[in-house]
Amino acid sequence: MAYDTDTAADSPPVTDWVHDWDWLDPAWGPNAIDIWNDVREQCPVATTERYGRAFMPVTMEGVKTIAHDTEHYSSIWVNVSRPDAPRTPAPPITSDPPDHQAHRRLLLPSFSPKMIDPLEGEMRSFCRSLIDELDGRATADAAEEYSQHIPVHGICLLLGTPESDADMFRDWLHRSFQLAPRDNSVRLAVAQEMDAYVSEKLAERVAEPADDMLTIIAHAEIDGEPVPDALKRGYVKLQIIAGIDTTWSAIGSGLWHFAQHPDQRARLVAVDDDDMLWKTAIEEVLRYYAPVTMARKVIADTEVSGCPAHAGDQMLLTFPAANHDPEAFERADEFLIDREHNRHVAFGLGIHRCLGSNLARLELTVALQEWLRAFPDYSLDTSRETTWACGQVRGPRNIPVHLNR
Ligand code: HEM
Repeated sequence: MAYDTDTAADSPPVTDWVHDWDWLDPAWGPNAIDIWNDVREQCPVATTERYGRAFMPVTMEGVKTIAHDTEHYSSIWVNVSRPDAPRTPAPPITSDPPDHQAHRRLLLPSFSPKMIDPLEGEMRSFCRSLIDELDGRATADAAEEYSQHIPVHGICLLLGTPESDADMFRDWLHRSFQLAPRDNSVRLAVAQEMDAYVSEKLAERVAEPADDMLTIIAHAEIDGEPVPDALKRGYVKLQIIAGIDTTWSAIGSGLWHFAQHPDQRARLVAVDDDDMLWKTAIEEVLRYYAPVTMARKVIADTEVSGCPAHAGDQMLLTFPAANHDPEAFERADEFLIDREHNRHVAFGLGIHRCLGSNLARLELTVALQEWLRAFPDYSLDTSRETTWACGQVRGPRNIPVHLNR
C-alpha cells in the first residue's frame, strides 16, 4: 500500500533530543529508552517546536503531576500532532471531568475479570494454532507470524468484530500512529474509513443484538438518554485503537527480550504457568518496554518540574520514560525478571488508567507462556533486522528468530 509520506521528508533527523525531540524520528523506535535516560541526565523536560510547542517530561514526578492534573491539562488531544489536526472524540480517553466518568462507567463492566478471565482458554488455543502453523520451520518472524495476531483475536472476541478485518485494523493503526501526527489528510481519511465501518457494525447490532460489546455500545444510554452516535462510534474506535497495537507491542517486546536472555528464559520454562515468577516477569516486561506514550493539551498556564507551559502547548505523557526513572525504581536500567516492588505506570495513572489492563495482562501472559513452551531455545536471528514502531505505541514490528527446536 502506498502512503503519503511527503511530510516526513520535511522532518530532518533529530540531533538534539533535549530541544528538538520528535517521537516519529526513526531513532525513537529502537533507542527510546537511551534517549529518555540521556535527556533525564540533562533536564527533566525536553522541548520541540516540530508540532507547535510540545514538551516531553522524562521523570516519574513530572508524569505523575500531569496525569493527575485535569485542571491544567485536557485529554481532548491525546497525542502530539500538528496543532491544527482535526480531532474526533473517542470517549472516555478523550473526555475530561465531569463527562469522563459516565463514559468510563459505561464501558467498565465489559473489562471486569468476570468478563476477561473466561477468555483465557480461547486465547491459549489461538496462540497454539499460530504456533502450529510454524510446524517444520527453522526460522520465523515472531511479530508478523505471532504477536501481531493475538490482540486482534482478543478484540474480536470482546467487541464482536470479524477476525477477517484484522489487516484493515492494523492498516488504520499504522497510519494513525506513524503518519497522522504529521499529516492531517491521513488523520481525516482514517477517521472517515473507521466511522463508515463502525456505523455499519453498530447498525447491524441494532437490527440483530448479540452477546458482545458492539451490542452494549449500540444500545448505550447515559442517565436514561441515548448516547449520541458520534460518541458511540468513538467508543468502538477507541477499542480498536487502544486494544491492538498496544498489547501486540508488549508481547513483541517480551519475545524480543527473552530471545536474547537464555538464562531468564530457562527460569521461566522451568516453572509452572501460575508461578509467581511469571507474574513478576510480565510486570517487568510492562515496566521496561511500556509501549504507550499519551499526551495532553495544556489548557491553563502552569509549570511542570520548573518548566513553564502555556495554554495551547502540547505535553507528552511519557509513561515509558517514567518507568526508567532511577528516582522511582532501584536498578531502573536493569530488566529484573523477579523484581518485587514494581509500581510501574505502563497502564497510566489517575482517572484515565487503562481499562483494558486485565485483557492486556492475560494476552501477554498466555502469548509468552505458549511461545516459550513451544520454543524454549529460540533466539534472535541477528542476520536480519528487528524493526520498531515509533511514536505513541512503540514496539517491534519484525522479530526474526531461529526456533531451535
Ligand atoms: C499492554 C497493553 C496496553 C497498554 C500498555 C495500555 C496503556 C494505556 C494507557 C497508558 C492508558 C492511559 C491513557 C491516558 O492517560 O490518556 C490507557 C487507557 C485506556 N486503555 Fe489501555 N493499554 C493497553 C491495552 C489495552 C487494551 C487491550 C484495551 C482494550 C481492549 C485498552 C483500552 C483502554 C481504554 C478504553 C483506555 C481509556 C481509559 C479512560 O480514559 O478512562 N488498553 N491504556
